[in-house]
Amino acid sequence: MVSFSSVIMLFNITTICWLVVISAFSVGGVSAQLSTGYYTKSCPKVFDVVESVVKSAVAKERRMGASILRLHFHDCFVQGCDGSILLDDTSSFTGEKTAVPNINSVRGFNVIDDIKSKVESVCPGVVSCADILAIAARDSVVLLGGPNWDVKVGRRDSLTASLSSANSGVIPPPTSTLSNLVNRFQARGLSAKDMVVLSGAHTIGQARCTSFRNRIYNETNIDPSFARTRQANCPSRNGVGDNNLAPLDLKTPTTFDNDYYQLLLVKKGLLHSDQILYNGGSTDSLVETYSKNPKAFNDDFVAAMIRMGDISPLTGGSNSQIRKNCRRVN
Ligand code: HEM
Ligand SMILES: *[C@@H]1O[C@H](CO)[C@@H](O)[C@H](O)[C@H]1NC(C)=O
Repeated sequence: MVSFSSVIMLFNITTICWLVVISAFSVGGVSAQLSTGYYTKSCPKVFDVVESVVKSAVAKERRMGASILRLHFHDCFVQGCDGSILLDDTSSFTGEKTAVPNINSVRGFNVIDDIKSKVESVCPGVVSCADILAIAARDSVVLLGGPNWDVKVGRRDSLTASLSSANSGVIPPPTSTLSNLVNRFQARGLSAKDMVVLSGAHTIGQARCTSFRNRIYNETNIDPSFARTRQANCPSRNGVGDNNLAPLDLKTPTTFDNDYYQLLLVKKGLLHSDQILYNGGSTDSLVETYSKNPKAFNDDFVAAMIRMGDISPLTGGSNSQIRKNCRRVN
């Protein structure tokens, strides 16, 4: 005979289970979790395949590592990490590639295509483009001398992209104030500290003259000789030399290290949005910490990259798929 209290207990356990299920579904729809072991059975080779392609791409051109890392960031900040940035425009579809933060600027799509076709040949229809981007971003950091971490996977690809969102400032422009930078990251569930440490990605890669022209001609919190050096390859006139490149980290632009923060201390940040992190405001002390402590930078960077990779993934449902070709929906 089942006692009254055990019936009550059973009822409670059932209720709790339902509450867990209901709350899992109510926080932004289907919200299964990403995990590092998602492909252990279905595609154990995916990590090796991604690494080998990124390795040869970076050996051919070291900057490519920077470009891939940035692609992952621009993917995650628009609609979440869902591969939306990879979709090409067609006559009947508008993607994100022509958005202001992306046009004439984001690159690396051929490397992602190359990875995707090799992954499709070992496990067809299993691995998403969004996951490939997250893994390739980690591999890029590692290949350029940065920290390693286990990448959480299990994202699916979007059927949509959003040009208007990509243009709306959710990816902050380099002219941003400090509070705008903080707010834009907060809007994606990332803290001010995450923003400062993820900006350390600018230890690698290049920027176009148009992204830093005003800074090198008009700003006062800049080392004068550094400004002159940059002016030599970035004419003051709008439209002249707009695409001329300069390294974001003038010391070691193809090595992932903490130089970026050391350069901010001496007013040699290239972008307005870089130098604003060390300009007498609330983030100065973090910049000082990371400039002195590479381990703190690496550890916090890894934690923040994992949080960024967790932004609104698609983990199921009819609005998601595993694309066969990262440039178009199936
Ligand atoms: C904090 C706000 C950020 C702003 C305002 C910003 C802005 C920019 C700008 C303007 C460029 C140069 C684009 C060009 O001129 O073509 C750039 C390049 C780059 N950004 Fe950021 N960024 C930010 C955060 C991040 C984050 C979070 C990451 C990655 C974790 C990142 C990774 C990169 C990399 C690696 C490059 C160089 C890309 C290449 O050489 O192809 N940035 N960023
Ligand atoms: C410097 O600032 C002035 C005033 O805002 C602006 O008109 C000019 O275009 C800026 N110069 C550059 C090179 O950006």
